Amino acid sequence: MSEPAPPHQQANSLWTSRMAFILAAVGSAVGLGNIWKFPYITGENGGGAFVLVYLACIFLIGLPVLIAETLIGRRGGQSPVATMRTLTRTEGASKGWRIIGWNGVFAASLVLSFYAVIGGWALVYVGKAAFGLFVGADAETVGAQFDTLLSNPWELLLWHTAFMVIVVFIVARGIRAGLEKAVKMLMPLLFVLLIVMVLYAMTSGSFGRAVDFMFSPDFSRLTTEGVLVALGHAAFTLSVGIGTLMAYGSYLPKHINIARTSVSIAVMDTCVALLAGLAIFPLVFANGLEADAGPGLIFVTLPLAFGQMSGGLIFGTLFFALLLVAAITSAISMLEPVVEWLEERKGTTRVKSAMTGGFAVWLVGIGTVLSFNLWSNIYPLGFIGFFEGKTVFELIDFLASNILMPLGGLAIVLFVGWAVRREGLAEDIGLQGGLFRAFMVVLKFVTPAGIAVVFLYNLI
Ligand code: PHE
Repeated sequence: MSEPAPPHQQANSLWTSRMAFILAAVGSAVGLGNIWKFPYITGENGGGAFVLVYLACIFLIGLPVLIAETLIGRRGGQSPVATMRTLTRTEGASKGWRIIGWNGVFAASLVLSFYAVIGGWALVYVGKAAFGLFVGADAETVGAQFDTLLSNPWELLLWHTAFMVIVVFIVARGIRAGLEKAVKMLMPLLFVLLIVMVLYAMTSGSFGRAVDFMFSPDFSRLTTEGVLVALGHAAFTLSVGIGTLMAYGSYLPKHINIARTSVSIAVMDTCVALLAGLAIFPLVFANGLEADAGPGLIFVTLPLAFGQMSGGLIFGTLFFALLLVAAITSAISMLEPVVEWLEERKGTTRVKSAMTGGFAVWLVGIGTVLSFNLWSNIYPLGFIGFFEGKTVFELIDFLASNILMPLGGLAIVLFVGWAVRREGLAEDIGLQGGLFRAFMVVLKFVTPAGIAVVFLYNLI
């Protein structure tokens, strides 16, 4: 009396291979989080100790959530919301767990709202690089270029809109075929280019200082909020906790080993982030810039390097173009849970769902656009301790990345650890014997305790 396969698990909708899934998941994971966000939050949080905590969070928290979330997606085989609805029934679990699906749709929209604005910056920077605006520029010039961009809400809105239009267009057309190809060709190229940048940074004279900054932990520089940021970023960079991997996992064929696949994804994603740091910090120190310069960090350091290195025009253009592609493949995966949910709920077409979802997200994104200029002194929930001194952008980022994503992750590991039926779980995850038992201990106790401790410390 086995139930029919859930919608996405029917033969014609599955990913064509393990590689195809990995590519899509890596496409989602590798994005602005690795190249734009990781370096600047590392700079803001003092370097080495932050990186160490981040790495611990990736492997003790992010990876288990990644495995658990993909598993839920495959078992449910629908949108995150419908998957949770079905699974609470078939696994005989409380309906309360459905919050995982809702949290996904809500948080993914919030993340995309600011992600698209930064994606817009990447878009303009392709043009700036191609037109040679960085050639021979000094730190002051590239800094001024960036400040001018941020100070103009209309220009930011234009690029934000352009970015959203691209994302909606791709999602509306159905994601998989084009996505696989783009990721397969372009991600390795981005990787190679990052290595070129690291090699270039090695010649800057400040490489040793950068390595020291990133890898010698000085715990006196790490605050409890810094630990929360590291946790949030571990979730953010792996795209876990908000339904993205549930949506992608729903297309994953049964025979694919989730544990092994997830480890590859986490390792690749981490390598990209560390490479980005190693490419950027030497330039920061060599040019007397500030490591804690904030969200503009890569947009002032990299142009400097491209402006000075030979072939910088081509490298620079290619780099920002690839960053843009990486951002798009991530953004697509954020819109996916929202669109799948709209499609199922309203029974409308994919195109309409993509447009409706995209429009709502775009609207919220205007708050982020304004945070860098007209609203730069407005702190909406400033009266609450947690959100003190945070602009709309910082607030949305903090709420979605550092609160909703880890809490979503917590609910996901608890659900798989405690509520899902144990039979068949080892095969489904792809672990055997002692390894499976150890993993279950991590899932049931270690990961939840890790997340809980970080939150408790921040609340008291
Ligand atoms: N992981 C992506 C990045 O690092 C961001 C992302 C978050 C994508 C959440 C999907 C869901 O850029």
